Amino acid sequence: MTFATVDWHFYLGYGVLGLVLFRLLWGFVGPAPIRFRSLLHSPAAIRQYLKTLGVRSPSGSPGHNPLGSLSVLALLASIAFQAVSGLFIEADDYFESAPLAKYLSAEMVNQLTGWHRLNATILLVLVGLHLSAILFYWLWKKENLTRPMITGWKWVKENKSAD
Ligand code: HEM
Repeated sequence: MTFATVDWHFYLGYGVLGLVLFRLLWGFVGPAPIRFRSLLHSPAAIRQYLKTLGVRSPSGSPGHNPLGSLSVLALLASIAFQAVSGLFIEADDYFESAPLAKYLSAEMVNQLTGWHRLNATILLVLVGLHLSAILFYWLWKKENLTRPMITGWKWVKENKSAD
């Protein structure tokens, strides 16, 4: 990475960290369907939902369906880890370290740097899965997942719940 790229990398990373903190707070005080309490489903509920996944109609879940909840939690955990780990690492081909790297031992910084790179790949896989799920729900289940993500509103038919 060149100097300018790293600068931007840091600033955008701080922006992501701010968004993650906001989402974490919102998970406790925000509207019911997006609170962490609503995102936790039992393995049995997830298994049950998986059985109905192929059905060619909208899931009918008023908030996130059990699989969508898993996706939210995985993405949030991965993004949070990426942004937080970034604060403590340094670029081996570059002279500027992240602001908190000086508080950790060289060994830990090294380890976190490796995890930061590895998690970036995991994050890309999760984003790919997320986009694929949106396409699948849109084309196969005739359910638009992006509109509720943007507007916060979701229309659900009664008596269609697959949760
Ligand atoms: C969600 C936000 C972030 C993402 C997606 C991300 C992603 C990445 C990726 C893919 C690399 C590897 C680049 C390469 O090998 O050339 C990297 C490296 C790096 N990141 Fe981040 N990063 C994020 C946040 C941060 C933050 C907040 C900081 C520091 C304030 C940071 C500091 C660094 C540094 C110093 C490196 C270089 C480590 C190396 O030698 O590979 N990152 N980041």
